[in-house]
Amino acid sequence: MTIPSNKKLIVGITGGIAAYKAAELVRLLTRQGVDVQVVMTESACRFITPVTLQALSGKPVFTDLWSDSAGSGMAHIELARDADAILIAPASANFLAKLTHGMADDLLANICLARSCPLLVAPAMNVQMWDNPATQRNIAQLKRDGVIVLGPDSGEQACGDVGMGRMLEPETLLELVIASRQSKLLNGKKVLLTAGPTFEAMDAVRGITNLSSGKMGYALARAALEMGAEVTLVSGPVALNPPHGAKVIHVTSARQMLDGVMAHVKSCDIFIGVAAVADYHVRNPNTQKIKKNAKTLTLELVPNPDILAKVAALPKPPFCIGFAAESENLREFAEQKRQRKNLPLLAANRVQDALGRDDSELILLDDDGAHLLPRAPKLTLARQLLTHAASMLARRKKSSRKKS
Ligand code: PMT
Repeated sequence: MTIPSNKKLIVGITGGIAAYKAAELVRLLTRQGVDVQVVMTESACRFITPVTLQALSGKPVFTDLWSDSAGSGMAHIELARDADAILIAPASANFLAKLTHGMADDLLANICLARSCPLLVAPAMNVQMWDNPATQRNIAQLKRDGVIVLGPDSGEQACGDVGMGRMLEPETLLELVIASRQSKLLNGKKVLLTAGPTFEAMDAVRGITNLSSGKMGYALARAALEMGAEVTLVSGPVALNPPHGAKVIHVTSARQMLDGVMAHVKSCDIFIGVAAVADYHVRNPNTQKIKKNAKTLTLELVPNPDILAKVAALPKPPFCIGFAAESENLREFAEQKRQRKNLPLLAANRVQDALGRDDSELILLDDDGAHLLPRAPKLTLARQLLTHAASMLARRKKSSRKKS
């Protein structure tokens, strides 16, 4: 999380049934170490009590413009001054209308007007209210004013209607808030990744696969989105939800993964091969379930295409980042792989420490040598790896400008 510890994220809660979800959001944010200051409108307090939010944020909740708890008696100025960002979740149709017109008739609206930090809003309302031209005009104006609008989502609503207007789920909002705070080092870049294992069929129901969970690849996809990239993720079979905003192509075998990659590689700037691709597939897999008749069973295995090597060998390859999972001689074997596949950057990990785990340790290998990324959650490593790649790309751009 990059929200500086001395700065606060103000979570503003306005009146709507989705206010109950704000409790979970505040819990998730504080668990991430974010210093959350909750401010509630009077209507919000009719849906959920400030006591709940105080317990979850660990701080008194502000509700009143005329409260004397702020030292100078100007709570709106002091709170706005201390804030690194403001997130209004849920943002009701009424509150969005107030924001649009710069009204300041309660504490939260005053804070928004007095702010100099980014403002994010997560609208939540009935589908007709959302579709109303007045609301749509307000949203368009808020976007023009630089307000970041998160959602809404579509689905079943508390009133029984179905359609746009549901507030995004707290987990998604957490992802988006964190993303909004990352430096946009990959703005305008297209990132293509492979992730997870492949599955090579032996017969109608069985196959050859491995223990890759997809966690490293999905973390990289998420980190790339956070940094402003457009992300396409070609994923083998995993049990993970893809990060919000990624285009996902689900594949099973290595050859399908190659097709998915080749269909998107032309327009991409960065390619990252994180998938644990099976090196072989079964020649002529049985279309029915193989019967247990024979004493021994022989499968003929033939090599799979090396997706990363193929991408790196394209006439105009994207910036290619490979991974190497080794069980011994990590640095030596990984560097050999980097050289053989002609990669500017490769991330090496010990397979026993990385496969399926939530955290890992990486050695980044490039022409300048080795850079250790100590053990950390995979998302942290993903951010560090992409920051390293972004600085390599920036250096390349600079030196190609000098040459021309
Ligand atoms: O998914 P997780 O549980 O989070 O685990 C993450 C991971 C351990 C799978 C990941 O960090 C990792 O190391 N991925 C690469 C695993 C691997 O198969 O490495 P390799 O040494 O076999 O392949 C080297 C590189 O070539 C890799 O970038 C691989 O994606 C690529 N490759 C390999 C074979 C092939 N046929 N096509 C490829 O593109």
